[in-house]
Amino acid sequence: MSFFLNQTEHYHKNDMNDLMWEVTVCNSIEPANSPVRQILTQNRTYGELLAAYLFNLIPKKCCNNVMEVGGGYGYLMRDLLGNSPNIKANMVDISPAMMARQRQTLAAFDVNYLQSNFFDIDPGLIQSQDLVIMNEIVGDFPTACQITNDMVSHGNYGDKSLDKIREYVTKGIIELPEDGPTNLNIGAIQALDKLCSCHVPYIFLSEHSCEAMVKDHMAPYIKLEPLGNPQEIRLIGHSEYTIRFSHLESIAHSFGYRVVRGNYTDFIKVNFSNRIYRIFKSNSQKDAHEIIRHFIEDLYIYEYLLLIREPLMSGGST
Ligand SMILES: C[S@@+](CC[C@H](N)C(=O)[O-])C[C@H]1O[C@@H](n2cnc3c(N)ncnc32)[C@H](O)[C@@H]1O
Repeated sequence: MSFFLNQTEHYHKNDMNDLMWEVTVCNSIEPANSPVRQILTQNRTYGELLAAYLFNLIPKKCCNNVMEVGGGYGYLMRDLLGNSPNIKANMVDISPAMMARQRQTLAAFDVNYLQSNFFDIDPGLIQSQDLVIMNEIVGDFPTACQITNDMVSHGNYGDKSLDKIREYVTKGIIELPEDGPTNLNIGAIQALDKLCSCHVPYIFLSEHSCEAMVKDHMAPYIKLEPLGNPQEIRLIGHSEYTIRFSHLESIAHSFGYRVVRGNYTDFIKVNFSNRIYRIFKSNSQKDAHEIIRHFIEDLYIYEYLLLIREPLMSGGST
């Protein structure tokens, strides 16, 4: 197969109705009675858990203007506003269906809405933000597929994304593998470049990683292969790609940001009872057990970056 650019813009603008088939971690722990919410050490939503974690690392009082890009059903922002009512929220989403859902969820709050592709929004709006959140969205951004080192360094394909990749490679910000074709998250890289160029003080992004590893007590039970090559995830009406977080870290460092990198287990804590270990050991195929197994695997597979332009308040590694 030869080079192509995976894009999801048409799907999100025209065909997307809901997130039924893309069970995000945020949505999976939203219902208080969901089987996965029951196994958490705290009976709280994704947004509540994330807010508690974030505002332990960065000063809440400095986060007055918060933009969320690709906010889905609006649950995360609802919980941030519940935690910090003084926040002025800006929701940016390409999908009319998701924007409508966000308006419903956030009806009780004073929120600005902008239906737009993130790449088209005015940098002036971004510059006025203190915190920008991109939760499980950057895998939707354009991915250059089946590219080779040769193609990028020598080829004259007249393709803008390849030209952009060449610029980052020439500057030494990213590297391509010597052998074989690879996929490259050029959209995610350019999105982070746009945020960093606007000097946003705090940036949080999370997504399905192609570099995830299990380094704790679950290592015997969860086998991940951190291939480092973004993989296709086929979904209804579109495909997205897993994210090579080390490339995004390099972008952040090239702008002088401090970076906290981790996975969802840092803020979503599971009560690892004997029952949970039994579910993994037995590889039971019961629906409830499969749901729990997949959910816990996702907590390791989803990585996040927190970019900070100031010293850390407490905790976290850089
Ligand atoms: C997988 S959903 C994640 C929703 C939510 N953040 C969550 O974690 O549940 C991706 C979201 O990003 C939006 N989106 C995708 N591409 C976008 C783009 N280029 N610009 C703005 N929003 C986009 C989609 O409409 C959707 O709301």
